[in-house]
Formats: sequence, C-alpha cells, structure tokens
Amino acid sequence: MARNFNDLFDAWSETYDQTVVGTDIEYKEVFAYYEQILDEVAKKSKGYIVEFGVGTGNLTEKFLKNGFDVYGVEPSEGMRSRAKEKLPNVPIVEGDFLEFPMPEKKPDTITSTYAFHHLTDEEKAKAIAHFSDILNESGKIVFADTIFIDDAAKQAIIKEALQNNYQRLAVDLQTEYYTTIPVLKKIFEENGFQVTFKQMNAFVWLINAEKRRGD
Ligand SMILES: C[S@@+](CC[C@H](N)C(=O)[O-])C[C@H]1O[C@@H](n2cnc3c(N)ncnc32)[C@H](O)[C@@H]1O
Repeated sequence: MARNFNDLFDAWSETYDQTVVGTDIEYKEVFAYYEQILDEVAKKSKGYIVEFGVGTGNLTEKFLKNGFDVYGVEPSEGMRSRAKEKLPNVPIVEGDFLEFPMPEKKPDTITSTYAFHHLTDEEKAKAIAHFSDILNESGKIVFADTIFIDDAAKQAIIKEALQNNYQRLAVDLQTEYYTTIPVLKKIFEENGFQVTFKQMNAFVWLINAEKRRGD
C-alpha cells in the first residue's frame, strides 16, 4: 500500500501552507516559484480533472478559479480536512495513486504536484499504466515534482544539502523515491504517452504527458 507517509503529512498539514511560502529555509528552494508552478500545471490541464495528493488544496483552488471541475484524492486525513475547510464544495476522497474510488466520469487530465515521488519506480509504472486505461481517449497527465536529470545530479544536490547542514532535506532526498527523467520518460512512453519535461526550479520539473493517438 502506497500510503507510508500519512503520519508525516497529518503532522505537516497544520504548517504546510507556511512551508510553501518559503518559511522553512531547508525547503525554500524546493518551493521556489510555487504559485507559478501550480499556475503552469493548471494552464496545461483541460476538461474534467482528477488530482492526486491534493494536500491543503492549493492546486485544486487554482482549478476552481479557472472554472474546472475537479475530483480530489488524498490519503492523509489531516490534509483532507485542511483542503475541505478551504474548498467545501469539491469532492476530496480518501485514496492514493494506486487505490482510489473511481470518479463517475472518465478524466481528461490526471494531475498532481509535489506528490508522485511517494511511489517507488515500480509503483509509478503501475500507476501510469492504470491512468492510461482510465483517461479519455485524448487525455493527458500533468505533474510537477522533484526529479533529476540523472543520478549524478541527484547525488550532487544531496551533497549540497549536507554541506548546508540541511539534514531533513538530505534525509528526505535519500529516503523518498525521487527519480530521474530517463526512468520517467521510459514509463510514460511504454504506456503510450508522448512526454516533455520543463525545469521550474532547482528541484521541480513540469511533466506534460499526452496520450498518443491510437494508443
Ligand atoms: C508535499 S504535499 C503536496 C500537496 C499539494 N499537491 C501541493 O502541491 O501543495 C504531498 C501530498 O501527497 C500526499 N501523498 C503521499 N503519498 C501519496 C500517495 N501514495 N498517493 C497520493 N498522494 C500521496 C500527501 O498526503 C500530501 O498531501
């Protein structure tokens, strides 16, 4: 079950919205341009949206402002209740990337920010295969998350975190499942997507994957 992080996020839900504005020095660079990253994800999305790992609902709120219909999925009870406080009219259900109650309509866009790294690479492949099956014919996946060009880039950023004495960040980077662009590209292409990657800050990339016609 891909929900090993619930205790962490239940605890973090109280202060998460302060972290994203840069109050935690260790995570300042991770959340640099946070609003612009969410705006870009919203801009690339279309139609009926299923959002995973909604957290406190910051991306969900952008979708609402842009007139989209959203169905949210979030495993942490603490995060779900913060999001529901902000957005009482949005369905936000308990679930995760791999196990979730199906929405009534087929999604046009499956989206997520700062969350896909909670799955191992094997689980990521399983999730993308399932998303390919449930998306509408011309559907797409739009994610933003920390990923690296290659393993050397990941090791360099871990080294820098340790040099800065950012212990929490270094442990996070070493223990969660931050992957590389070649690994993700292969997963998307094997599942019939054409994918592009755009760097948004030192950690986060925008991942825009469109279903190829006929797949
Ligand atoms: C860093 S927060 C990001 C929240 C929000 N998307 C944002 O951009 O601010 C990560 C979120 O992913 C959720 N999460 C953790 N594991 C998950 C999983 N396996 N499936 C879906 N969401 C997960 C956490 O509960 C948390 O709400």
